[in-house]
Order: sequence, then structure tokens, then C-alpha cells
Amino acid sequence: MEKTIEQICDEAFKEINAAESSESLNAISVKYLGRKGIITQFLRSISTLPSEERPKAGEKANETKKILEKAIKDAISRVESEAYKTAGFIDVSLPGRSSFPGSLHPVTQIMRQICDIFARMGFNIAEGPEIESDYYNFEALNIPKYHPARDMQDTFYVSDNIVLRTHTSPVQVRIMEKRNPPVKIIAPGKVYRSDSDITHTPMFHQVEGLMVGENVSFGDLKGILTNFIHLLFDDKTSLRFRPSFFPFTEPSAEVDILCVICRGKGCRICSYTGWLEVLGSGMVHPAVFENVGYDTSKITGFAFGIGVERITMLKYGIDDIRKFFENDLKFLRQF
Ligand code: DAH
Repeated sequence: MEKTIEQICDEAFKEINAAESSESLNAISVKYLGRKGIITQFLRSISTLPSEERPKAGEKANETKKILEKAIKDAISRVESEAYKTAGFIDVSLPGRSSFPGSLHPVTQIMRQICDIFARMGFNIAEGPEIESDYYNFEALNIPKYHPARDMQDTFYVSDNIVLRTHTSPVQVRIMEKRNPPVKIIAPGKVYRSDSDITHTPMFHQVEGLMVGENVSFGDLKGILTNFIHLLFDDKTSLRFRPSFFPFTEPSAEVDILCVICRGKGCRICSYTGWLEVLGSGMVHPAVFENVGYDTSKITGFAFGIGVERITMLKYGIDDIRKFFENDLKFLRQF
């Protein structure tokens, strides 16, 4: 079959782009546009077409001819230019191209700050799996099946007995099963809940804390957590311990700090209460100690759980948690 004008044009362009000298480009010009050239012959053959097809075909062929003439002319100036002739020469006097240094994600930065503060107070870092059994995530923490407390945490189930951990508290149990008291650990990591809005994402970070031994008291809990808040924010930050409920602690307390934005006057960030909740805590429930085989007549301890995104939002005045996970460099480069 005869080639179409488009196919001829494509082939000509391939040859033009591959040409490296004006001699070869002149040869291409002769091949396509010369007296016996392909385009010239194509134009001549138009007279053999049915009369109604001639004007269109003629117009197209002439247009292609012009396009190729220009492309060849441009290519000749390209191969004859100084830049082309000196390509391969490196100008060492040009300024270098700078690269953007990477930096840590704001959530990672705050997580590390939290871990540093507790490390200075003698806590060791522990880890546990993100895919967790129902036993460690719930049962061992005094949350039996069908207990209403399970509703506090919208769980992603992998199978009947396997979940994505909804909190870092299961690490407490795993560590106590393996070690005898005294235990003083923090466990940073990812947790998952089926929840998504401006203050919730399906994955977020927590830092769990646990201090267990003989004579560990609620006073220790208050002292350590007060010190932590003062080191993380500043030592003028007021805080309060508000009674609360968690199945794995008794008594339980949530810690609020005086709103960092309005300093207690009331604003949108603190829902006009003047206070911001920053963590959950309490004295480890004897049922949890029994599950790990500790002697509840001798051993006491406290635990706490900190939401890292929440603290990061408060420290930097960020109002939408989803910003952390959108990978918008304009947002991330500010930290
Ligand atoms: N695990 C709780 C949650 O995710 C937070 C928490 C509260 C952890 C009290 C604790 C604690 O260790 O004592 O909501």
C-alpha cells in the first residue's frame, strides 16, 4: 500500500532528529523535497486522484512540505551552533545546582522530643507489633469481648482474633510478660482506628509509658507527667489531672494543659473551655498485673498514653490533622 503523507512526515522527522551534520540534513532535504524527492512525487501523484479528493490532498502535502522545509532549516542551525559544537565541554565556572536537603516530618520531630524527655528520666524504649492479637490489644488490658469500652476505639479487624492495634497499650503487656519489675519503658509507634475527620486519621502515633515497681505511686505519676509537660512546652504551662475512665487503669486521669493559644481565656482550639486534653493516664489495674503474673500485693505502677499528632498540632497551632499526611511540601517545609 502507498504510504500516507502522515507516515512520510513521521519518517522524515525521525531522520531529521537523528541527523548530526548539515551534510546529512542537506541529503534529507534532497530525499524528501528535491526534484525527484518523496514529497515532490507525492504532490505529482495528486493529479491521479479523483477530482473531489485533490484539493484536500494537495493542501495537506503542501503543508507538510513547508513543515519539513522549516524543520530542516532549524536543524541545520542547530548542528552549526556553537553550543552544539562545544557540547561535552563542561563550564566549571557555572554556579552549581543546589539540592533541597530533606528534613524530619513534624510528627517524627515531636515523637523524638517526647522520647528524649522520657529517656532523660530513665525510661527505656520498647516496641511491639502493629498487627496485634485481640488478646494483647483488648483482653489482657481488661477489655473483655462485648465490653462497651471496645466502642471507644473503632477497630480495624484483620480476622476474628487479629486487629490493627488501636493503641500502644498492648506493648505494656508484652513487656511485663517478659520482664520482672521494676519496669520503666516508653513505647512509641503507629496505631490505627477506623475514623477520619479534621481531628482524626485512620493511622496516627502514640507514645505509651509504663513505670512499675514496689512503691510506685500516683504521686510519681503526677511528678513525671508534670515534668514532661514542662519540658515539652515550657515550665509555666499549667496542667490539671481530671478524673477519667480507662479499663486498664484505676484510678484513671486525663491530663489537660492550659490552652496554649488563648492561655485559658477560651478560643476555638480549646472549644472555649480554656483547657486542652493532652494524654490519658492512671494506676495500672490489678487485673492487668494478674494477666502478666505480677504479685499485686507488692507491685504497683502507672501508665500513660500520649497522642503525638495532637501534641504536634498544639505546639505548632495546626488546626487540621489531615495536613500531616497530604505530603504537601509547602506545608512540610515550614518545620
Ligand atoms: N490507650 C489509651 C487510648 O488509646 C490511652 C491511654 C490511657 C494509655 C490511659 C494508658 C493509660 O496507658 O494509662 O485511648
